[in-house]
Amino acid sequence: MSLLAQLNLPARSPAASGKAELPDPLFEQFRRFIYEQTGIYFQDNKKYLLESRVGRRLTATGTPDYQAYFHYLLNGGAATELPELINAVTINETFFFRTPPQFEIIEEHIIPELVAQRTGPAPTLRLWSAACSTGDEPYSLALIVRDRLQARYPRVRFEIYGTDINTEVLETARAGSYGPRAVRNVPPPMLSRYFTVERDHYTLKPEVRETVRFAYLNLFDRNAVATMRNIDLILCANVLIYFDNKSKQQVVSSLYNSLNKGGYLLVGFSETLYGVTQAFQPVRFDKTIAYKKG
Ligand SMILES: C[S@@+](CC[C@H](N)C(=O)[O-])C[C@H]1O[C@@H](n2cnc3c(N)ncnc32)[C@H](O)[C@@H]1O
Repeated sequence: MSLLAQLNLPARSPAASGKAELPDPLFEQFRRFIYEQTGIYFQDNKKYLLESRVGRRLTATGTPDYQAYFHYLLNGGAATELPELINAVTINETFFFRTPPQFEIIEEHIIPELVAQRTGPAPTLRLWSAACSTGDEPYSLALIVRDRLQARYPRVRFEIYGTDINTEVLETARAGSYGPRAVRNVPPPMLSRYFTVERDHYTLKPEVRETVRFAYLNLFDRNAVATMRNIDLILCANVLIYFDNKSKQQVVSSLYNSLNKGGYLLVGFSETLYGVTQAFQPVRFDKTIAYKKG
C-alpha cells in the first residue's frame, strides 16, 4: 500500500500544498532522528539543506508535509523509507585520486612498511575505504595495486573493501562507470590501460572492478563496524566532517578497533583527529599526515 493510502492523505506535493517550509521544532526532530541513525549532525546553518533534501522525499512519496512524512517514518515506514531518506541526505562528492599526497604515501611509505612487517610466505593486506561513495576512492587504491604494487610485492595478496551507508552510490560503484570529472586526476597511462571509453563514459575494466568488494555499512553502527576486522589501512575521508564530536569519537574508536596493530587510518586532507582521539600516533609526511595504531 502506498504511503499516501496508508496515511489516508490527499496527493499533493509540498510546494503545491504551500507547506514546503520545515518548521523549527520539526527540524529538531528530523535532525535528531537522522543523527541517531547515522551520526550525521545538521548544524543550524544547514537547515536549508535538510529541508530541501527531505523535501525531495516528500515529493517522491507524494506526502503533503514534513509532519506527515515524519509520522510515517516513526510509524512503520522506516524499513522502506529510511534508506531512501539516508540516500537523500548524504553528500556524496568524490573523485579518483582526490588527495594525491595521500595516495603517494600509501604507495611509497605505508604499503612498503606494512609489507615489511609481514614475514609469512603469502601475507594478506586488507585496505578499506570506509565511506566510499561511488567507489572512486577504493578503485584508486585498486589502480595503484594493479598497476604497481602487485608486481613489486608478488607474494602479497591485497584485499580492497568499499563501504557506504548510501545504497544508491553503492550501485554506481559496482557498475564502475564514470564521467570525465571523476577521472580527471587519473594519470593518462592508467586511464588508457584500465578504462574503456565510450563517448564521455569511462568504465573500469573487469580486472580492476573485480578487485574491490562493496557493501552497505553504517559507520555509526558499532556492531557493523566490528565485522570489519584485521584491517591494515582505512581511508575514512570527508565523512567525519558531517558528524558532531561525539559521533566522530565513536566512529574513530570503532575504526581503531578494526585496525591491526601497526595499521593506518587516513582522514580527509583538511580533517584532523585533534580533539577527537589520542589513541593514534600521528605520522607526519611531507604534505600530509597519517594516523598509526601503535
Ligand atoms: C563526501 S563523500 C566522501 C567519499 C570519499 N571518502 C572521498 O573522500 O572522496 C561522504 C560519504 O560518506 C557517506 N556516509 C555518511 N554517513 C555515513 C555513515 N554513517 N556510515 C557510512 N557512510 C556514511 C556518504 O553516503 C557519502 O558517500
